[in-house]
Amino acid sequence: MATIHLTLAPLLILAAVFLSTEITAQPAAPAPGPAAPTNITAILEKGGQFATFIHLLNTTRVGNQINIQVNSSSEGMTVFAPTDNAFQNLKPGTLNKLSYDDQVKLILYHVSPKFYTLDDLLSVSNPVRTQASGRDGAVYGLNFTSQGNQVNVSTGFVETRVSNALRKERPLAVYVVDMVLLPEEMFGENKVSPAAPGPKSNSPDVSDDQEKAGAPSDKSGCGEMKAGLGLALGLVFLCLKLVV
Ligand SMILES: *[C@@H]1O[C@H](CO)[C@@H](O)[C@H](O)[C@H]1NC(C)=O
Ligand SMILES: *[C@@H]1O[C@H](CO)[C@@H](O)[C@H](O)[C@H]1NC(C)=O
Ligand SMILES: *[C@@H]1O[C@H](CO)[C@@H](O)[C@H](O)[C@H]1NC(C)=O
Ligand SMILES: *[C@@H]1O[C@H](CO)[C@@H](O)[C@H](O)[C@H]1NC(C)=O
Ligand SMILES: *[C@@H]1O[C@H](CO)[C@@H](O)[C@H](O)[C@H]1NC(C)=O
Repeated sequence: MATIHLTLAPLLILAAVFLSTEITAQPAAPAPGPAAPTNITAILEKGGQFATFIHLLNTTRVGNQINIQVNSSSEGMTVFAPTDNAFQNLKPGTLNKLSYDDQVKLILYHVSPKFYTLDDLLSVSNPVRTQASGRDGAVYGLNFTSQGNQVNVSTGFVETRVSNALRKERPLAVYVVDMVLLPEEMFGENKVSPAAPGPKSNSPDVSDDQEKAGAPSDKSGCGEMKAGLGLALGLVFLCLKLVV
């Protein structure tokens, strides 16, 4: 009997060691649960061709807002990120002619307060609300059409393809678009209203509490790791008992 235990013991210890490395390695993988704070700027920086959009997300503070809201909303969010090329292809002065408030609106128009996979977009019902839409969602919507697996997005003023995803995991999807999504309401023939220039059209005019909430909190998978270690240690003790 004892000889059987002795031959089993090394195997069990091996198994315990194996298990413990398996389990402690887990937090490195994008595990569900307490997610690391999402950072739209970091995601776009990795893309390498979004300097203008990053700049605008910063000056309008919409980037901050995304980072906060994506964490607090159960719906998730979707961002359509125009490339630097897209901004270069705008008629000269297009952005500079906009008041600060309209710049904010333009950037908000590239963000939807709901997470959509590409599959969702293939069959979504139009129009899709954006962050620029009113509470009733009646204005500043986006229309999506598809052909095969290709999805197009239309503002009523411009239409372009939705190309690859920079990020496609809940709660935040980020898709590349090669045109700036100019809203019909701002650029179309029957604009909603020529927005009056804001009183402080040069400086960001967003309340402070939007900023405060932006600080990241350090939430690692420590709980899981401890549980994993506990299990492994338990197994080792079990092995030792068997040996004795
Ligand atoms: C997001 O990422 C950018 C660029 O990597 C960094 O400058 C910024 O501090 C980050 N913001 C937060 C809230 O972590
Ligand atoms: C972001 O905008 C602030 C002012 O709103 C500015 O001080 C800061 O340099 C900007 N950061 C980047 C990375 O553009
Ligand atoms: C979306 O499609 C609807 C119905 O076809 C149309 O009335 C609306 O103007 C379109 N909106 C945009 C933003 O393209
Ligand atoms: C999508 O948009 C592109 C570019 O605007 C156009 O060439 C293509 O025909 C559109 N595809 C669909 C399915 O509407
Ligand atoms: C995310 O939301 C949770 C609760 O909803 C909060 O405890 C946490 O601090 C938030 N993290 C960030 C980075 O805002």
